[in-house]
Amino acid sequence: MSSHSPYKVLCVCLGNICRSPTAEVVLRHFCDAHQLDIVVDSAGTSNYHPNKAPDPRSQQHALKRGYDLSTLRARQLTTQDFLEFDLILAMDHENFKNIQSLKQKALNQYKTHQIRASVALMSEHDPVYKQQALPDPYYGETDGFERVLDQCESSAKAWVQMFKQQIRTVDQ
Ligand code: 4NP
Repeated sequence: MSSHSPYKVLCVCLGNICRSPTAEVVLRHFCDAHQLDIVVDSAGTSNYHPNKAPDPRSQQHALKRGYDLSTLRARQLTTQDFLEFDLILAMDHENFKNIQSLKQKALNQYKTHQIRASVALMSEHDPVYKQQALPDPYYGETDGFERVLDQCESSAKAWVQMFKQQIRTVDQ
């Protein structure tokens, strides 16, 4: 983690209108609360909803916990993202596979040393939902949106602990 340019994290799901916008805002909240200089963004592996605001159901459930998703707009993950971001977080295992495929394209397109991004699951270090998929709430009921928030909060707290350990390692 450099002290000059902030560490950059990209949260990625399928549509970039339910899970990854929620993960973006929740992770940013916990990074800010711990005064971590980390940039957080989100994208989708698909281009189903370009420039769309997050799903109104995601917005409503998030707002009840104080998270404002209203200004976010969906975009598709690109090979350039592997140059810009340090860490790409997949919301489920299918997202993970699709992100790895695009990383391979980025490796073919650019020089190896230009690729910065590692890929991990959002739930990688989560003690409650360890390496579990963040279930897609899009076709489901309201409890799915609460589950997304519960799991994003739990996983984001675990990542913040990881980031704090990395900073300590660099400082020492
Ligand atoms: P997300 O949810 O990947 O969490 O944003 C979805 C949003 C839209 C669709 C699927 C999943 N869709 O098929 O349009």
